[in-house]
Amino acid sequence: MNTQKLIDTAKAMVANDKGLLAMDESTPTCNKRFAKVGIPQNEETRRAYRELIVTTPGLSEFISGAILCDETIRQQKKDGTPFIKVITDAGIIPGIKVDAGAKDMAAHPKEKITEGLDKLRDRLAEYSKMGARFAKWRAVITIGENIPSQGCIEANAHVLARYAALCQEADLVPIVEPEVLMDGEHTMQQCFETTEKVLRAVFNQLYMQRVMLEGMILKPNMVLPGLACSKQETADEVADATIKCFLRAVSASLPGVTFLSGGQSSELASARLNAMNVRFKSRAPWGLAFSFARAIQQPALEIWQGKESNVVAAQQALYHRAKCNFAARRGEYTAVMDKNV
Ligand code: G3H
Repeated sequence: MNTQKLIDTAKAMVANDKGLLAMDESTPTCNKRFAKVGIPQNEETRRAYRELIVTTPGLSEFISGAILCDETIRQQKKDGTPFIKVITDAGIIPGIKVDAGAKDMAAHPKEKITEGLDKLRDRLAEYSKMGARFAKWRAVITIGENIPSQGCIEANAHVLARYAALCQEADLVPIVEPEVLMDGEHTMQQCFETTEKVLRAVFNQLYMQRVMLEGMILKPNMVLPGLACSKQETADEVADATIKCFLRAVSASLPGVTFLSGGQSSELASARLNAMNVRFKSRAPWGLAFSFARAIQQPALEIWQGKESNVVAAQQALYHRAKCNFAARRGEYTAVMDKNV
């Protein structure tokens, strides 16, 4: 394990107020998103869409790293240039999602456990050879009646830590993503309590599995009310709750946290990230960054609609959202940025 290389890569992933672009949707998830906007679902449309993303002019002004999935890391532009080369040449660090998805957890109704540890060491070696420098694994925690259970939290935390240790052995920076889902009627306070419990379990397991915290990135949810909760707190309240929770449960040794968007609108995700940076940037021990998929990509996907003639407009929308989130890291995002588009 090359400790310095891991530390340097982790720092670079959150440096200069940039953030990560998650473009690692699995084939079923990508197809689902295509279906919603009427785009045909096949390998060529997925390839064309990912080509649109990686060739967006100027993306590296705001994006430090891009997370790919197994299909995408093996694909090329129409002219034959591998995507991973396009990304690297643009100055963006390539990463790879390595989990095999969240599956129903035995004896735990309505809960999920993420699979993918089998043969992970071999897969990491292959991805590293292909040029990936970091990896991602997502665990899913649901808030509901009598859930999450301690069994589900502990099992996911353990697997996340085992994955992270294997990544560091292969000189890949692990992104550790324990996502407490937004779906449901739960309050922000319930999300706070669950997120704190989950993060404490994750950091306990990271310690037990000897993961070097300076060489990893945490990709958490923000502390938010459920999507169906009648009380929706302001961006400032979300910022305060999120940082209060993290100061309790997240080690100060991490170089950065890169939030997932989790189904928030693009504008809300930017506004909440902005509020965190306005209020805490100078005091927080970690960079408060982003690793959004939907909150960066969604407007571009809707504009594209699978048509060549819409590529430039879609790329402009993608560039714009990346710019908004870069501004949010600096505490400079305002709703006006979105009104003038
Ligand atoms: O693992 C989840 C993605 O990388 C982040 O996606 O920003 O749409 O929640 P999201």
